[in-house]
Amino acid sequence: MNQRTFFVKTFGCQMNERDSEIMSQTLSMHGYVEGMVMEQADLVILNTCSIRAKAEQKVMSLLGMLRKAKASNKGMQICVAGCVAQQEGEKLLERMPHVDLIIGTQNIYRIGECLEYARKNPGFIAIDLQDNYDIPRFMPDSDLSANKPAEFRKFVTIMQGCNNYCSYCVVPYTRGREVSRKVSDIIDEIKVLIEGGIREITLLGQNVNSYGKTNIVTDNGLPCSFADLLHLVAEIPGLSRLRFTTSNPKDLSDQLMRCFRDIPILCPQFHLPVQAGSDAVLKRMNRKYSVQQYLELVDTLRSYRPEIALSTDIIVGFPGETEEDFQGTMDLLEQVRYHGSFSFKYSDRPGTRSADFDDKVPEDVKTRRLIEFQARQDEISLERNREYLGSTKEIMVESINSDSIKGRTTTNHIVHVDSSGLGDNIRPGDLLMTEIYHAGQHSLKGKINS
Ligand code: 5AD
Ligand code: SF4
Repeated sequence: MNQRTFFVKTFGCQMNERDSEIMSQTLSMHGYVEGMVMEQADLVILNTCSIRAKAEQKVMSLLGMLRKAKASNKGMQICVAGCVAQQEGEKLLERMPHVDLIIGTQNIYRIGECLEYARKNPGFIAIDLQDNYDIPRFMPDSDLSANKPAEFRKFVTIMQGCNNYCSYCVVPYTRGREVSRKVSDIIDEIKVLIEGGIREITLLGQNVNSYGKTNIVTDNGLPCSFADLLHLVAEIPGLSRLRFTTSNPKDLSDQLMRCFRDIPILCPQFHLPVQAGSDAVLKRMNRKYSVQQYLELVDTLRSYRPEIALSTDIIVGFPGETEEDFQGTMDLLEQVRYHGSFSFKYSDRPGTRSADFDDKVPEDVKTRRLIEFQARQDEISLERNREYLGSTKEIMVESINSDSIKGRTTTNHIVHVDSSGLGDNIRPGDLLMTEIYHAGQHSLKGKINS
């Protein structure tokens, strides 16, 4: 019998990317093989995101398209996983009756058995979400090279869920309560990855600052904070670079900030979402910090690691945001001078508190504010990039083609390097020293320092 083929399409954040890897590996263990063309696969998995309405619309239109593909490929099974699955459940099946399996965020480890059940019972919904949930011990495939050639960096999930309830955010509903993975599972996973050739690890969680706060993560029951975990991971031999994401400023401890001073392989790069530069808006967002407190954190971080590159997330047009509030966000941008940022128009999400706020900002105002913010951020990013001109930076090689090498600095900047004369012995994951001679808005150019 031919092996069944699967195709996974991932939307949204890095957590979802990692979850997709876990599902792919689980399916391989169940005898599936990865296919190259979605429409021809026996099993299509959409791992979905519902952070903003647009993300959800993308999933719906792809599902519409798959209805036709399934009509001409009768054996096809369609599975919706991730945040839209978790949030919509039954409603999704009503709109998209050709879906065979709807699997929630805590059930991805059970995808094999759920699919088997769904083959006899199409339209199966597995979206139970538990509060006291142990993230299963799941080790990566030790033969990484068998999966994809030349992998050198990986995401490692250290916790699931979120307890913060920012008023605009769907995550507490789609990913449930905060649960941390056991320290030993995380360390063992990273050791397997390093043995497989991985050189850079990014630790992932919705709010890594609260790692280890809501459940016991050590065998001896002693507490282990996120900063403690960073020290433990940094001690594993063979790792060149360590990063993490994401942090909520409200509980960013001094102990964690000091890691940037004390752990050499912790990259000087920090994504610290601020969301807004107005105390009134921050309060309605339930963020639990003020602009002043945020700026103090920025100062402290820079005192511990002067070269640290900061990035952030911004929402414009939150309900009730006045011109003055928005000006606060623009002022904050000038004060911090982020290396980069992700900015979004506020989007109502079902079940969130802000969806019920009545002073919504009109769409055209949101659009104008977003354009203004992004235009200024682009200028600042370019100015920031120009600060690197003439300096020598270490890059980790990501890809190589006949005339250029693409790499990334510890500060997370892309550098393109002329590869002529470098020979064939450079591999992804190698570290090279480059002298920066050109700065663009989104990337740098460098030459090899010999
Ligand atoms: N509308 C717009 N942006 C949102 N984000 C989260 N929820 C919403 C929403 N309802 C943004 C935040 C968050 C990032 C991942 O997405 O900036 O940090
Ligand atoms: Fe999207 Fe948030 Fe779910 Fe990630 S956790 S997929 S960003 S809704």
